[in-house]
Amino acid sequence: MTTQPHIAVVGSANVDLTTFTDRFPRPGETIFGQGFHLGFGGKGANQAVAARLCGARVSMIARVGDDLFGQATIDNFTARGVDAARVLITEGVSSGVAPIFVDSAGQNRILVVKGANDCLLPADIDAAAPVLLDADAIVLQLEIPIETVYYTLRFARANGIRAILNPAPGQPLDLAELAHADYVIPNETEAETLTGMQVNNLHDARDCAVHLLRSGVRRVIITLGANGALCAGETRVDHVPPFAVEAIDTSGAGDAFIGSFAAFLAAGERETDAIARANVYAALSTLGVGTQASFVTRDRLEASWSQRPQS
Ligand code: RIB
Repeated sequence: MTTQPHIAVVGSANVDLTTFTDRFPRPGETIFGQGFHLGFGGKGANQAVAARLCGARVSMIARVGDDLFGQATIDNFTARGVDAARVLITEGVSSGVAPIFVDSAGQNRILVVKGANDCLLPADIDAAAPVLLDADAIVLQLEIPIETVYYTLRFARANGIRAILNPAPGQPLDLAELAHADYVIPNETEAETLTGMQVNNLHDARDCAVHLLRSGVRRVIITLGANGALCAGETRVDHVPPFAVEAIDTSGAGDAFIGSFAAFLAAGERETDAIARANVYAALSTLGVGTQASFVTRDRLEASWSQRPQS
């Protein structure tokens, strides 16, 4: 990598309450879980921390509540080296929280209560304009109001700033608005929600990506978990293979992918190399518990990257 890029993340910050359980209670039933982890999360915050750990300078634009979690979230950004000058405390609202349930296979189920994330409005984007105009890439997700997402995408396009949209959690969107993004990066289920098409294998993912491109999306990367990622643009489609690990907790892996990809791409890596490195970074995050808490250092990534099996 040649330069230190500046990544601005416009998005959510939550506190994650992760519970490990072998099964889920039936209505009216009480059962014992196997463990608990309290940590900082939120798709936006996770992506910011991943980008920072991968070497980028990172600015976060977000809102938190005036509760116990709000100031702690700001302190966490600062401790992690993320600029939190545009993370604002909103009075009379709770911070975003996410009860997360992880089963014995490491698969997660997440319930998000958006709280103050829902108060991040286009006026906040205007106020953060000097920070955004200085960024090499702006990264967005969908845990803030959709009008703010569309507004920021239009801002980025009007000012020639690369925009990366992770359409998560999945929800139907106006595909014409997504044409303002340079990259749209869903996982399989988010891609299904965007298009109404099933994504059960690589062939489906290719068809779905082509559909999104025909709808005006400029570049699509569909993350496929244990099957790697599919990257599609106007002239070619590439499958980037996975980095195989024995996952214990997959929560936050998608965010690890997005944040690290943004950092690598903005630092000048070739697109397929940035995806391959992000695949490794995301896979390593599944070896630890929690979301941000499981994200590895740049040195740890480089060690695994240099030892990866070559195809
Ligand atoms: O992608 C994982 C994240 O989704 C968690 O950190 C949780 O807060 C939700 O935003």
